Amino acid sequence: MKVSGTLRVPGDKSISHRALIFGALSNGESRVTDILQSADVHSTAGVLRSLGAEIPELTGDFVIRGRGRGLAQPTRDLDCGNSGTTTRLMAGVVAASPIEATFVGDASLSRRPMGRVARPLEAMGARFTLPAHGGLPMTIRGGTLHDIDWKSEVASAQVKSAILLAGLVSGVRARVVESNKTRDHTERMLEARGANVHIDDDSVTIEARSAISALDTAVPGDPSSAAFFAGLGAMADEGELRLERVCVNATRIGFIDQLRRMGATILEQERRLEGGEWVADLVVTPGALRGGSVAERDVPSMVDELPLLACLATRATGETVITGAGELRVKESDRIAATVANLRAIGATADELPDGMRIQGSAGPLRGRVITHGDHRLAMAFGILGAVSGNSIEVDDRECVAVSYPTFWRDLANVSSR
Ligand code: S3P
Repeated sequence: MKVSGTLRVPGDKSISHRALIFGALSNGESRVTDILQSADVHSTAGVLRSLGAEIPELTGDFVIRGRGRGLAQPTRDLDCGNSGTTTRLMAGVVAASPIEATFVGDASLSRRPMGRVARPLEAMGARFTLPAHGGLPMTIRGGTLHDIDWKSEVASAQVKSAILLAGLVSGVRARVVESNKTRDHTERMLEARGANVHIDDDSVTIEARSAISALDTAVPGDPSSAAFFAGLGAMADEGELRLERVCVNATRIGFIDQLRRMGATILEQERRLEGGEWVADLVVTPGALRGGSVAERDVPSMVDELPLLACLATRATGETVITGAGELRVKESDRIAATVANLRAIGATADELPDGMRIQGSAGPLRGRVITHGDHRLAMAFGILGAVSGNSIEVDDRECVAVSYPTFWRDLANVSSR
């Protein structure tokens, strides 16, 4: 398989959700360019509209007219679709507003743990009703909250963001201590909008009565989407692929660093700061990969890329071991069980660990059908592995890529040939 050309992957999903939320919460006009137009981001737009925010149709360039902190009582349930980020970030906003709302979602989202966001927001004074299994539907009765100093129970940027948003909307002080730093887009965007935020190595604090002003966002390319093509380029037989304007925020590029440790050649060019986020062009060329290891400390910076890493590990020499990644069991699917079952289904050697997986590399062809369970990242990870010379992999549900990367299959066809 040969790779060639230049690809600009769609906008970063995390920043896209936050651009909409911050646009709605500030007073004045915020212009958003290059937002990710995917199902998850549409879920956030829909929830904000249900709460009375004026979010126009999502295009490549639009303006949000923010109405300050005041969101309105919704007249229907807040449908978050498949999106954990929509649910947990908006839980923070609703918990701090004088409204009652019920969050609902698809079957996958409804099974995901919401207690992690309910506990700190209840400690701030909001009231939550969750089903016995701890997922959705989740009803929140929001109101005036109190200060909080919260030690994260799990490494989760969504929970951290929910607490910071609750602090912002309620005008109280909120501090979150993390033992393992997660993606920091919320604190960067708060700071850029003038909120009184303190960031250090293991904590983030938003001070009481912090205000934000409207600000434009140019959404950079999503490193979690670029990762698929970095992996493709590394496994190719020949060629070179250029990935333009990728967000290279240090809390997001663990996968790129890991691939380099496993022997890949990925150059970073034209590194520049755009709207508070570092972006760069990545140039990837094929090369022999060797097995590697990922431990708990590394997980947050590559949490969404681990199924892809497991797929790449099948084409490396030796063994790859991923541990400290129990969070993968509560993503859009149980990504440990599903990745290992699918690797086995196509002839690879892989084992589940309680908090990770062990994968053996080989040169043999991988063939068969994989079951995505509607999980976009599994569809794309196995899509990339299927493009590698000698492999033939059928993905049961190709459409689920619409959650984060609607043009994935077209982009894959454009930059690779056999
Ligand atoms: C996200 C945080 C991560 C990540 C998700 C997006 C965010 O989830 O997996 O795709 O935008 O804050 P967790 O907070 O559950 O780790």
